[in-house]
Amino acid sequence: MPLNLGPRDAEVWYAWTAACAEPSLQAAYDAVLEPHERAACARFATAALRAEYRLTRALCRTTLSRYADVAPADWRFRHNAQGRPEIAAPAGALPLRFNLSHGRGLVACVVTRTADAGVDVERIVVPAPLDLVAAYFSTDEQRALQALPAAQHDARFYWLWTLKEAYIKALGLGLQLPLDSFSIRDGQRITVASTAGAIADDEKWQLFSTLLGQEHRLSLALRREQGGEFDIRLREVVPRADCCASRVGEPDPGAGSGRSRTTS
Ligand SMILES: CC(C)(COP(=O)(O)OP(=O)(O)OC[C@H]1O[C@@H](n2cnc3c(N)ncnc32)[C@H](O)[C@@H]1OP(=O)(O)O)[C@@H](O)C(=O)NCCC(=O)NCCS
Repeated sequence: MPLNLGPRDAEVWYAWTAACAEPSLQAAYDAVLEPHERAACARFATAALRAEYRLTRALCRTTLSRYADVAPADWRFRHNAQGRPEIAAPAGALPLRFNLSHGRGLVACVVTRTADAGVDVERIVVPAPLDLVAAYFSTDEQRALQALPAAQHDARFYWLWTLKEAYIKALGLGLQLPLDSFSIRDGQRITVASTAGAIADDEKWQLFSTLLGQEHRLSLALRREQGGEFDIRLREVVPRADCCASRVGEPDPGAGSGRSRTTS
């Protein structure tokens, strides 16, 4: 029986690569890949990269199959001009949207019914690459970061960085939208405002950020379609294993707050 997903639900399924490395799991992931994905996997230079690739594809496919009567191997995808993947088939399973982020130990997939959604995960490496701030952050963001005590700069960097990436991914534009052309701001809630054009409109966006474990940050950008707030649910999972813990992201001390509620 497929899981229910309402128009204002956003569910994030995330998996730790270390928990999904067993050969039996990797074989199960390999089994749901399309031939071209298997070929792409084989081109990665290391076993760790191949394992992460298989997990990413399997997490995406098994997650989508939770919401539709479609076997994981039967999903087909297309990409927009900037590389954003979307479901191409089976047509009967629509509407269902998703976005992926992966790397350095964690893979995440956000699913919505029809809303544009972007997710970004980063491993928090200290010291943060603060030399990127001048090139990629807006003047407002740079000013807000510099106003904080130096001890908070690393945390602020990753908070900003992941929210900015989640936002450009939700738009589907990737790096076609310059990262300094909009500003992420905190306050009672996290907002986004354009510094250059008219793309950003903070009333239309719900932004959320949380730490996962000790070393990773996950951020989300969700486009509101008819006002109202999304219910955001985070679920840790080992695809193809009987393991699934769920939790809700709490507001994140010191790095802004996201609105999130749970019904589970
Ligand atoms: C999409 C993008 C913005 C995100 O890339 P990223 O943060 O490196 O990687 P993530 O793992 O978070 O996201 C990659 C996934 O996003 C999805 N994606 C690709 N293009 C996308 C787009 N235009 N819009 C939304 N999602 C997209 C894909 O599913 C991709 O994974 P896949 O190729 O395995 O299917 C990419 O354009 C990019 O190249 N970013 C580089 C950012 C950078 O320079 N970072 C420096 C860090 S200090």
